[in-house]
Amino acid sequence: MATKLPETGLSRDEIINHLTDLKKDDIKWAEGRTPMFIFKADTELSKLTQEAFNLYFNENALGAHRAYKSIRQMEDDIVAIGLDLFNAPAGGQGYFTTGGTESIMCAVKTAKTWARDKRGDPKFHGNIVAAETAHPAFRKSCDLMDIEIRKYPVKDFRADPAALEAAIDENTFMIIGSAPCFPYGVVDPIEELSEVALRHDLWLHVDACVGGYMLPFAEELGQKIPVWDFRAPGVASISADLHKFGYAPKPASTVFFRSQEHAKHLIFFYNEWPSGLYATATVVGTRPGGGVAGAWATLHALGHEGYLDVTRRLLDLIARYKKGIEEIPGLKVIDDPQLAIIAFTSDEVDLLQVGSHMPKRGWLPSFLQEPKGMHLMLSLIHEQACDKWLEDLRWAVEEQRAAAPGSEKKVDVVY
Ligand SMILES: Cc1ncc(COP(=O)(O)O)c(C=O)c1O
Repeated sequence: MATKLPETGLSRDEIINHLTDLKKDDIKWAEGRTPMFIFKADTELSKLTQEAFNLYFNENALGAHRAYKSIRQMEDDIVAIGLDLFNAPAGGQGYFTTGGTESIMCAVKTAKTWARDKRGDPKFHGNIVAAETAHPAFRKSCDLMDIEIRKYPVKDFRADPAALEAAIDENTFMIIGSAPCFPYGVVDPIEELSEVALRHDLWLHVDACVGGYMLPFAEELGQKIPVWDFRAPGVASISADLHKFGYAPKPASTVFFRSQEHAKHLIFFYNEWPSGLYATATVVGTRPGGGVAGAWATLHALGHEGYLDVTRRLLDLIARYKKGIEEIPGLKVIDDPQLAIIAFTSDEVDLLQVGSHMPKRGWLPSFLQEPKGMHLMLSLIHEQACDKWLEDLRWAVEEQRAAAPGSEKKVDVVY
């Protein structure tokens, strides 16, 4: 195919055939062969949400306030559902965004403006303190907004309130908790972080991009989940992705604030150009209306019972994977996975080498560099893959045990 703009347009068939052909070497995600990037509850649900998405394929959610009242209504409904699920007090506020990274950027921007107002210093940059397990989106936000980020080591794979408190200084304005963190899948002790936040008048953000739309249902099903949401009084904001365990089509995330007083620092108003007042609550301007409609459709198609059912099945699946991993001699699951992430290590075999055998059998491996290990973020798409993946993992471990000493290859540990 030409690498510059074709002189005349290609036909529909040429385009579709080319794209179909282009896709054929991609990972077979529909067979559950990638341990991340994709989240699925049910095929019928996917068809419905795709239909909802297509109904709003052309609409631009940037115009929700002026042109598309329906998008505004759907966003209001989605936000109300999140505020209720996450136990926000009356007056809580939320916004629909395009992803976890954007939700986190919104929270950091809001906290920074809050700190500037509080200090009466419009040039204040300050610092944010986060456990080393916090998602890179915090670092990205800090790079963009010229904020220092201070990282501290975890204790038992979780944020350590004592280490956090030791890292805080007079320029700290924000602290972070994860529910759960991506590397180990465990929920930080949010109530203790909340006490630190209240003691030092800091903004506590809970990154529930992975857990937000699963935790309330897992808790209802009796999982041992520490309080992680607005019930902890020091929590100022929460990010929660609908396009992960909310099972909505991408792009769809939400960011919530304890009160209007907190949320007001997010909104961007600009009137110093010829075209008049420009106001957004998001980092991006134009946003796909389809993402909003797809998320609205997903929440309403599943409902409370649907989410409970999907979560129950997913927790059973996690238990199956966990048991299977632990039955392979030498492998150890990290902590006690309560949600959708399983991380595992080994004192006997190098799991980076083990993981690098997996593509030979059609699997995309996901790694951990600290401690050396492997990682899975599972949804129901992985139900069909469980037995085969475990069989091939066992094979990969045996391959590695049988490998000649010194035959190790360099493995790039990439997300
Ligand atoms: C804990 C956590 N926070 C934030 C994000 C960022 O989400 P996104 O990729 O939607 O920007 C992720 C992505 O996996 C995550 O695991």
